[in-house]
Amino acid sequence: MKSVVIEQPGELVLADRPLPAPAAGEVRVKVQFASICGSDVHIWHGHNPFAKYPRVIGHEFFGLIDAVGDGVDASRVGERVAVDPVVSCGHCYPCSIGRPNVCKELQVIGVHRDGGFSEFAVAPAKNAFTLPASIPDKLASLVEPFTIAANITAFLKPQPNDIALIYGAGPMGLTAIQVLKGVYGVEQVLVVDRLPERLALAQDNGADRVFNNSDIPLAAQLEGVQPTLIIDAACHPSILAESAALASPAARIGLLGFSGEPCSITQQALTSKELSLFTSRLNSNRFPQVIEWMEKGLIQPEKLVTHYFPLAEIERAMTLFEKDPRTCCKVILHMG
Ligand code: NAI
Ligand code: MN
Ligand code: ZN
Repeated sequence: MKSVVIEQPGELVLADRPLPAPAAGEVRVKVQFASICGSDVHIWHGHNPFAKYPRVIGHEFFGLIDAVGDGVDASRVGERVAVDPVVSCGHCYPCSIGRPNVCKELQVIGVHRDGGFSEFAVAPAKNAFTLPASIPDKLASLVEPFTIAANITAFLKPQPNDIALIYGAGPMGLTAIQVLKGVYGVEQVLVVDRLPERLALAQDNGADRVFNNSDIPLAAQLEGVQPTLIIDAACHPSILAESAALASPAARIGLLGFSGEPCSITQQALTSKELSLFTSRLNSNRFPQVIEWMEKGLIQPEKLVTHYFPLAEIERAMTLFEKDPRTCCKVILHMG
């Protein structure tokens, strides 16, 4: 089978690999579509501290179950599935309280183990979620990115009367906009980015107001409006302090970033307004919820997609995705 392998940092190859056999408790998926994420690019360039090489990348993928391992119901062969990349031990403290995404032995498919930029991939059977016919094949790999927004909003508990502010109108910011508007009915969703093309996408995805902070700081443009719910989907270390300064008293702030650089902020900036801070990593069992949102039409995955490429053009697709945020949002690989 053909697989996209990062042999070592910087070295991406479309390799011929042996077809994997599903182990006990696993399914094998004949991958149909897979979407590119920033973290795939990071693994390629050696910027993901968790990745081990060589690695088949890709953690956002959809396909058909074509074989099952011992202990898995053979009737699952043929099912259309989206695969949750979070593989957890099931018995550590975070697993025991329903937070497998921060399992002490966390394994992420496409990061710690081989992933879905491949003609076939194996995964635990419980990670393969059956999709209703109403979710089309070519959008089904987008369940995973929406689970990131599902996870952080579960902490933030958005309300219709919130004034929400989202930093960053990349794929993560856009999924957050859609979930705040379509699922939670938040009346005011404000979005800030530096690229006008991204802000246009934000409007298309439901943002009520957009701000470009490339020349004028956001504070000067908000005219005293104090957001009550803030999501940092741009993830620069300076954003936490700015968010705390802009936030309404009693606001909630959600962070998604993984930077190794410190954020500089005073206790006073947080405590004087009694701000709540939440962080969110990947997703904790949120595939069923996102599948239901898609089925009900509460979110529109097609609004994120700008390009489709065949698997053979992986390097071109990844390079375009990385270098051209003005024209690219979600880039999807077609395996067939
Ligand atoms: P992206 O790079 O496509 O989007 C980021 C956007 O933020 C860009 O449009 C950029 O112009 C904008 N931006 C950058 N600095 C800004 C600033 N100071 N003010 C306003 N806008 C600014 O990335 P994507 O895929 O949307 O991911 C966003 C972040 O989320 C990344 O840092 C990624 O590591 C993180 N992430 C976290 C996950 C989690 O589970 N915690 C999962 C996936 C992504
Ligand atoms: Mn992703
Ligand atoms: Zn665990």
